Amino acid sequence: TEVRVFAPATVANMICGYDILGFAVNEPGDEVFMKRVATPGVRITEITGDEGRLSYDTDKNTVSACVLSLLEKLGIDKEFGVEITLHKQMPIGSGLGSSAASTVAGLFAINTLLGNPLTKQELLPFCVEGERLACGTGHVDNVAPALFGGITLIRSADTFDVIKLPVPKDLHVAVVFPKVDVPTRDARQLIKEKVYLKDAVTQWGNIAGLIAGLYESDYSLLARSMNDVLIEPTRAILIPEFYEMKELALSLGALSFGISGSGPAVVAVTNDAAIAKVIAAAIAAHLAAAEIESFQYVSAV
Ligand code: HSE
Repeated sequence: TEVRVFAPATVANMICGYDILGFAVNEPGDEVFMKRVATPGVRITEITGDEGRLSYDTDKNTVSACVLSLLEKLGIDKEFGVEITLHKQMPIGSGLGSSAASTVAGLFAINTLLGNPLTKQELLPFCVEGERLACGTGHVDNVAPALFGGITLIRSADTFDVIKLPVPKDLHVAVVFPKVDVPTRDARQLIKEKVYLKDAVTQWGNIAGLIAGLYESDYSLLARSMNDVLIEPTRAILIPEFYEMKELALSLGALSFGISGSGPAVVAVTNDAAIAKVIAAAIAAHLAAAEIESFQYVSAV
């Protein structure tokens, strides 16, 4: 009658795959504790680690709202009752899929309490609804890797057509979150709606190269492919020291460097765990010298 579920942070876009690629990391992540109670309804009883930023209102908190919508869909919202404790273990508005981790953990928890009536694929639309509530659009590239793990391709967000991609065995990342707030909603509004065909050709060449690189475990092809010419030039403006961090990471041996999701977190992709550690420390030191506080995570993909 009670469950504890952890869902990981995720790096959406995977540098060049805006809204279509994402991967899960080992840490950080959010934890949901859910308990069945006699009184029908969904209640949030405790939230920790959110610096007081999240709502306890069932309809406004993405976790409770999604859990409620699942109960409604199953037609049992008038009889089933749960209490939820949410432990946020990652920063909000960071570009690490914070809202996705919480909703995925919440929906996985309720599904488990109910005896797994839904498959992960069937849970996906409910998770995406949570993203719509949190950021204004139902992008799938954070929730899919948080739910399925590994690297996921969103072939179509409209039909929830998600494909799991192979994970080359030496892929390690350094994720650094400079402590400034960049809400996904704002970071999405900033992007230009129209792109030039020549840039689009560059971008889809890179995406195709990235997918081939994953299947072949070809790190040199991955390095050549993980470049974003469409989104990064605009969003980089919101991230302090972005190009300095990029130069530093590439000079220390990163295969690629870019924005994690909608930022301000950044990610360096490497094929060596030790290099990822060195890069995380070097970027943290660089930011500290610029008087910017940061958090670093080093993880296998
Ligand atoms: N693909 C989304 C974006 C993810 O870049 O806006 C947000 O984390």
